[in-house]
Amino acid sequence: MAAATFAYADLTDPPGTTLKAAAERSGRYFGAAMGGDRLSDSGFLAIANREFDMMTAVNEMKPDATEPNQGQFDFRAGDAIYNWAVQHGMRVRGHTLAWHAQQPRFWGSLSGSSLRTAMINHINGVMAHYRGKLAAWDVVNEAFAENGSRRSSNLQSTGNDWIEVAFRTARAADPGVKLCYNDYNIENWTYAKTQGVYNMIRDFKARGVPIDCVGLQTHFTGGSSLPGNFEQTLSSFAALGVDVALTEADVTNASTSQYQGLTRACMNVPRCIGITTWGIRDSDSWRGNENPLLFDRNSSPKAAYSSVLNALNAATTMVPGSSTPPSTPGSASPSHSASASPSAPSSSPPVTGQPGCAAAFRMVNSWGGGFQGEVTVTNTGSAPLGGWTAQMTLASGQTLANIWNGINTGTSGTVGVRNASYNGSLAPNASTTFGFLVNASTNTAPGGVSCTGA
Ligand code: G3I
Repeated sequence: MAAATFAYADLTDPPGTTLKAAAERSGRYFGAAMGGDRLSDSGFLAIANREFDMMTAVNEMKPDATEPNQGQFDFRAGDAIYNWAVQHGMRVRGHTLAWHAQQPRFWGSLSGSSLRTAMINHINGVMAHYRGKLAAWDVVNEAFAENGSRRSSNLQSTGNDWIEVAFRTARAADPGVKLCYNDYNIENWTYAKTQGVYNMIRDFKARGVPIDCVGLQTHFTGGSSLPGNFEQTLSSFAALGVDVALTEADVTNASTSQYQGLTRACMNVPRCIGITTWGIRDSDSWRGNENPLLFDRNSSPKAAYSSVLNALNAATTMVPGSSTPPSTPGSASPSHSASASPSAPSSSPPVTGQPGCAAAFRMVNSWGGGFQGEVTVTNTGSAPLGGWTAQMTLASGQTLANIWNGINTGTSGTVGVRNASYNGSLAPNASTTFGFLVNASTNTAPGGVSCTGA
């Protein structure tokens, strides 16, 4: 049965006793990476299920895995990881759509516009398959060199705009998923590569190129350890208007001070939304015998595990929009009750045009014991919406286990879902989606799906 996790974050909750529970207190996630071979490793799966609420495929969603031959997509390995993760209450990060390594063999015989077209087709093909299902995509991976200029690669040779083309293609292919740029050695603020990536994100934001997040891989090796300015790096990226996440963390010999420091830095930056370790046990790591993870080869938590857990529980900042709205019965707090009915409340600010909201449910995936659903909320009125609240009624025996891109009230029967901090504003005709997991004895679709806007 999927572990129940809830969207409400509350720093006054008792300390979490697992990584995910401790992270969720402040609206964050704690993730891991897994290869397909771990799906038959019961030791790995037990820890994954207990401790983590986000999963990344180590290799199975990369370009060579998902499009081995031109136009022939293969999602079996990626789907196996995706299905296990969502069936156990986790969300999934997509890794990755375009980078210089692990490319389909046929990309090697292409160049110029034919390679550019192949990249665009790849992004469209893969994102169509996972549309509406993932928390984020690492759209582009490792495109910068250590000196802060672009890494030379066959993709870079197609023109300097290849990265923004990838992001624009990705936004059109799946408007609901967060689009990330992901790289290593960008943790030290004064490092040339960090500045190179920072300047690209700043330029994208200035020119309206769609980008939502930066993934800092956070591989701390002998030659690259936790920099004293890591928090400054995270907050500087966040100040550009993107989320940041630590996407592949591992530390030589699992230094407790470095693990504690990287976790504290993330907890101190509101838009640092989560941490992923690249594997779970030392035996899962790509780093041979460096023992860089939080669990040892016997599946026991190491000292670094405790330092991370404590740092998660000590968080004092929350991810924006993750907290429960204050309950203010009878107060004069802003109304969220403007609805599809013709008259807006008289206390509301003047509204030009008629408010309206429509909600539609889609069954994304189902299995014995539950399903993944998605609700599309559309502004059907002629005035912009500043927020919305959806309703749906779960059948008897069904329980909401997890939700993203929305904040729930209740977990059974009639459930309310209000917008997250970043998807409440909807222009006329614009829509957004929220997704959720339901534990169910029968996979009946929710009834009474509706919304009101304000
Ligand atoms: O599957 C083949 C197998 O059939 C063959 O016998 C074997 C022989 O070497 O190779 C196997 O493929 C290997 C694959 O991992 C699966 O184990 C590749 O050689 C190996 O290169 C590949 O390494 C992966 C690496 O990315 C490739 O760049 C690692 O597992 C994976 O952990 C690593 O992940 C990267 C992130 O994507 C990006 N950031 C850095 C991170 C660590 O390098």
